[in-house]
Amino acid sequence: MKYITTPIYYINGTPHIGHLYTTIAADVYTRYWRSRGEEVFFQTGTDEHGQKVLDKAKELSQDINEYVDSLAASWEEFWNHSGIEYDKFIRTTDSDHETYVSERLQELFDRGLIYEGVYAGWYDKREERFWTDKDIENGLSPNGNPVERIEEKNYFFNLEAFRSQIRQHIEENEDFIRPWGHRNKVLRELEQPLKPLCISRPKARLSWGIELPFDSDYVTYVWFDALLNYVSTVPEDYIESCIHLIGKDILIFHTIYWPAILLAIGKPLPRQIFAHGWWLDVSGEKVGKSVGNALDPDYLTERFGKDALRVLLLHTATFGADGKFWEQRFIGEYNTLLSNSLGNLVNRTFGMARKYCNGKVPAFNLEYQTEVDTSFAEELTVLTAEYHRLFEDEELQFRFKQIVDVIYEVSIEGNGYIHDREPWNLSQEEKNNVVYQLLLCVRILADLLEPFCPDKSAEILSSFTNGLEPGSELKPCPPLFPRIYEE
Ligand code: MSP
Repeated sequence: MKYITTPIYYINGTPHIGHLYTTIAADVYTRYWRSRGEEVFFQTGTDEHGQKVLDKAKELSQDINEYVDSLAASWEEFWNHSGIEYDKFIRTTDSDHETYVSERLQELFDRGLIYEGVYAGWYDKREERFWTDKDIENGLSPNGNPVERIEEKNYFFNLEAFRSQIRQHIEENEDFIRPWGHRNKVLRELEQPLKPLCISRPKARLSWGIELPFDSDYVTYVWFDALLNYVSTVPEDYIESCIHLIGKDILIFHTIYWPAILLAIGKPLPRQIFAHGWWLDVSGEKVGKSVGNALDPDYLTERFGKDALRVLLLHTATFGADGKFWEQRFIGEYNTLLSNSLGNLVNRTFGMARKYCNGKVPAFNLEYQTEVDTSFAEELTVLTAEYHRLFEDEELQFRFKQIVDVIYEVSIEGNGYIHDREPWNLSQEEKNNVVYQLLLCVRILADLLEPFCPDKSAEILSSFTNGLEPGSELKPCPPLFPRIYEE
């Protein structure tokens, strides 16, 4: 059993490539393991509480519940449109989630792990969080947001009570936090005592949230509410096998606050937290709604196609490091990898099957087998094994770039095989053998592509009316990845 999550996205934002990136990664992982017969539970969703959401509903003169319902529906529609096959779309306004959060809060309050205190700090409205004195420079937060000094009664969660346990867990479980750099960063954070986490917000300032069960003048801090999404509605035993895919900016929330909450409520810790990097624009600025350079996934989907975009996002940057986006770069990648190599091989193969074998799968005749044929077939076996190793070796988790490189290598081998064998100069028997081996290669490619390009993979496979059965008909396959020209 595998359980994979994405962050739950702020409902008031519109999806951009950063969101698409994590969710596609989770989808590829899920599809791969499902194709291996594993049971996978994939959860994504929306983070719906917070003052900004309420303010916006008011501005639009809409009832808050109707407003969030309509936003959540558009996020779900976006994922469905993008071919994401999650098992559960959780919303923090779901009543079972809200009840769960409220019960856990009461439990922690009763046990003294949540207690009353006074909070003094710099409030950052944009991020709905506080900063301390040392974070503030020229009246701005480290992210450049305006802040306001606030002192108020609040409720706190005793993070420090769990510091040594979390540290020990990270030290004993080397792959709990990936990639390595992040693990080290978190361990450094855990060297110093942890300040109590303020888990409440006075309703006077923020009224759209889960009310504290022990003080009706307060609502729950969004992150405390949001993190619990990972366990609030799934079976108890899921969490131990859970992999959280996140962006690096929410690392501390997931590697310190979240384990502390889990330990406090008596739950096991997840299997792994994997933080990917950021998509940056050409000037090195993080792509996101707040800087106004968000790349519209609808536009990108239109430009490259849904399946190609998945490959481009997971291949252009190493998963775990930052990646720079500019359109020409993606066009170049698309043409080299998908159009010239992979798409071309598929086209040529079906073209030759039509021309030399009457559009039918030929029989392979061992009498005419050459060394080139044998070594090509062997190479395909080696590459297929490498592909599975990269997906399945836990040490190598999420090496999407390398996995796509293996697929690319298969298409290079296929094109190289045509080049070496020159089927146009061969006898009919030899032509049959070459076409048979190429069809085999194309079927392998379709299988390897499936997690990344489910639709294209299905298109290829549907050209085979009865697999590689000799004599079976091959239906025409439309060009898979037509070349894209720069405008
Ligand atoms: N609601 C919280 C998450 C709560 S999870 C319990 C949140 N939402 S978010 O919508 O702002 O962002 C979600 C994710 O998008 C984060 O993982 C963040 O890292 C990611 N990205 C935002 N901008 C990004 C890029 N430019 N590039 C890659 N991912 C980035 O945070």
